[in-house]
Amino acid sequence: MLRIDGVTCEYARNPVGIDVAQPRFSWTVMSDKRDVVQSAYQVEVALDVLFSELVWQSGRVESDQSVHVAYGGEPLRSRTRYHLRVRVWADREGVTAWSEPSYFEMGLLDSQEWVARWITATSIDPKPCTLLRRDFTVDHKIESARIYATAHGVYELQLDGERVGDWVLTPGWTSYANQLPYQTYDVTHRLEQGAHTLGVILGDGWYKGPLGWNGQENLYGDARAALVQLHLQYEDGSQAVIASDGQWTASTGPILRSEIYYGETYDARLEKARWSAPGFDDASFAAVYLVDEACTTLVAQESPPMRVIDEIQPLALLHTPAGDRVIDMGQNMVGWVRFRVQGDAGTVITLHHAEVLDHEGNFYTDNLRSARQLVTYTCKGAAEGEVFEPHFTFQGFRYVKVEGYPGELSMAAFTGRVIHSDYEQTGAFSCSDPLVNQLQHNILWGQKGNFVDVPTDCPQRDERLGWTGDAQVFVRTAVFNGRVPTFFSKWLRDLAFDQMPDGGVPHVIPNVLGAEAYGSSAWGDAAVICPWQLYLAYGDRRILESQYESMQAWVRYIHDQGDDEWLWNTGFHFGDWLALDAKEGSYIGATPKDLIATAYYAHSTDLLAKTAAVLARTAEAELYRRWHQEICVRFGEEFVTPRGRIAAYTQTAHVLALMFDLVKDDQRKRTADTLALLIRENGYRLTTGFVGTPYLCRVLSENGHHDVACQLVRQTEYPSWLYSVQKGATTIWEHWDGIKSDGSFWSADMNSFNHYAYGSIGDWLYGVLAGLDTDPEFPGYRRIRIAPKPDAAFSFAKVGHESLYGLIGSGWSREDETGQMTISVEIPVNTVATIVLPGASGLAVWEGDVPLGEAIGIHSVTQQDGDLSLEVGSGHYVFTYLAV
Ligand code: BGC
Repeated sequence: MLRIDGVTCEYARNPVGIDVAQPRFSWTVMSDKRDVVQSAYQVEVALDVLFSELVWQSGRVESDQSVHVAYGGEPLRSRTRYHLRVRVWADREGVTAWSEPSYFEMGLLDSQEWVARWITATSIDPKPCTLLRRDFTVDHKIESARIYATAHGVYELQLDGERVGDWVLTPGWTSYANQLPYQTYDVTHRLEQGAHTLGVILGDGWYKGPLGWNGQENLYGDARAALVQLHLQYEDGSQAVIASDGQWTASTGPILRSEIYYGETYDARLEKARWSAPGFDDASFAAVYLVDEACTTLVAQESPPMRVIDEIQPLALLHTPAGDRVIDMGQNMVGWVRFRVQGDAGTVITLHHAEVLDHEGNFYTDNLRSARQLVTYTCKGAAEGEVFEPHFTFQGFRYVKVEGYPGELSMAAFTGRVIHSDYEQTGAFSCSDPLVNQLQHNILWGQKGNFVDVPTDCPQRDERLGWTGDAQVFVRTAVFNGRVPTFFSKWLRDLAFDQMPDGGVPHVIPNVLGAEAYGSSAWGDAAVICPWQLYLAYGDRRILESQYESMQAWVRYIHDQGDDEWLWNTGFHFGDWLALDAKEGSYIGATPKDLIATAYYAHSTDLLAKTAAVLARTAEAELYRRWHQEICVRFGEEFVTPRGRIAAYTQTAHVLALMFDLVKDDQRKRTADTLALLIRENGYRLTTGFVGTPYLCRVLSENGHHDVACQLVRQTEYPSWLYSVQKGATTIWEHWDGIKSDGSFWSADMNSFNHYAYGSIGDWLYGVLAGLDTDPEFPGYRRIRIAPKPDAAFSFAKVGHESLYGLIGSGWSREDETGQMTISVEIPVNTVATIVLPGASGLAVWEGDVPLGEAIGIHSVTQQDGDLSLEVGSGHYVFTYLAV
């Protein structure tokens, strides 16, 4: 049976409040049969769920496109819900039924439609968070009601004393002066005829709270403010709008202080019961001020909102040698703790949050630097007990030191609330080594905890910034594990906004480090690498289109540096950050910075040329291809001896030369052999930092040293990925030796235990060991590449990835005794795959219980050296053979 499984609009199911003029629709098709390709589709968009008021019908389109089909009807109207359905045809299979109707709803499309005014409590905000309220009446029966809201700062919206929605830390963090997202809430079912009240709590957030290690405040403005607009659509056809305006009143409440790094101070005795509900006497509230500010930079929320995604119950209650009571959550997590307490009014409970205990088992917070991660709660003395969780802060922690808790401290009273941007988890990996599986767990948790509206370096100390280098090295792993195109496209727009006039890219996005902090190689290259990786994973051309100017500006920036246009040997660079071949006391590895800079220059120029080609900018594609060749030549002249020795005898130099294709033919073999030698000489240990680590295993595996790559990944002694796993890590560490073998710490100065950069080994686990990859010619997994690379170090490895076409699977296992290899794959409808069966010969392969030659769905079989290469259509296949 052919059927349509899920229809999405701009990557989301039933999005409410979007502002994409021509949204794109995607669907997955399911079939029990093999080798199924869509031959035609039909899309209908209507104003009603019965599809009688059509605004667009594609008609039957002969096409296999099932991803990113753009709306082609009349302009979409503001605040309007559209219903959507799809059906498809496939050869031999006939036509599907119409998909279950889904919908998408437009937000406020024109800035003129904002009648709301920005309102603020005072011109100088006190520390306590602001409360804003307004009573209103619903006069008739409601047909639908929507609130559009945003803030300078962070806000929580309330209606009649209850929270609206479950999003946290709205509106998130952007380059606010350029794009400020607003959120849309459907409150239809909360509004009956009669009296109601809107309430807003405002905190400082990223907008004006301290950010960065210098503790700078007011980076984007010095006043919290809210913008709220409620649209009431009555059943009788009339309408009303309740907006933020001079009728609102303001006060403060129990949240005495709440900041991203600091934590929260809350005095429950100052609660104003039902302050955001009708009937509250707001005589003590003051008038609000109106702020003159246009609404031209408002954009609909595009990226997945932040939510409480998970809850964790504590693992243990510890009594430390220093006498502290410490709760162990069992997982280094990001979010906060919710707790229950029964205490007399005035009882003060404090929670301190830390990632690790020191080698004596004591609570350790030095690595947080100036971030306090402190929650202080003062009880109001409620007889039935009190439940608290903070509002406008988050902590990176595994351990919670509790002080002042009245009575028996019980773990059951504490719950870890895990927050992050609510992207869909799309990747799974496992293999025969439990330690490597724990590594994958740590990679996933590193991603969760650092995808908090912005891809951050770390979630605990006084940074939590959108470091471009970190994002760039991790993006390939990230797009496998999660569906993150809109998470990144919002951030990439900020990157373009914050890019310098000369094209230089700030070290962090949004840029809060000032006008000088930009232009490092391997960091700024995020401008090019991230859009390209998103394109490969999701086949989304629009991301390339909208980033193209920014990508080009970065490459041209490099081109303009120094006096040799093909070499980058000037300016500031982070180099192979945190590499182990650094000089004593330095963070910067031994690989020459100009080698790294020129290698990345080549890589970014290559990707820019490819991007120009995808966008049919033929002349520019040609130009950048020529640039790329010039840079490669100069790299060779400068960094490779005539007989093929890489001038810098470091692992990272060899990794970059191989990865970015800067050495040719027999030079390649020599480079790879030297790299393998460097690693063997070092006792199968790496020395690489941020720049060399991500590609280290990939270039080994792809250049004849897969066994060395496997040994490196399975290495448990310092330095290695599994060293931290053996030390009990539940996330990825910033330093290979965050905790040394004697239990002491690397340093307090810069020692994060939740830094995803080295989690970039995920790309090798999924893409090389388990062997699932995209094809740049048919991006978004339209054509899938499967080429598992078994090794004696593992007996099986498998991946699953929920692509836009549906679930892709690839797994291999080898029986030790018989040497029998089994490779199972899952190929979604409407895609094709190239599958390489390693060590197979055509005559002796079975698929299921038939010889390969008789299997359905196989388009072609080619013997390639010792491997067998197959072209197959959709379906589930199990290949078995004796590997040679
Ligand atoms: C951050 C990094 C970042 C680096 C720049 C650090 O403080 O945590 O991850 O990339 O600075 O070199």
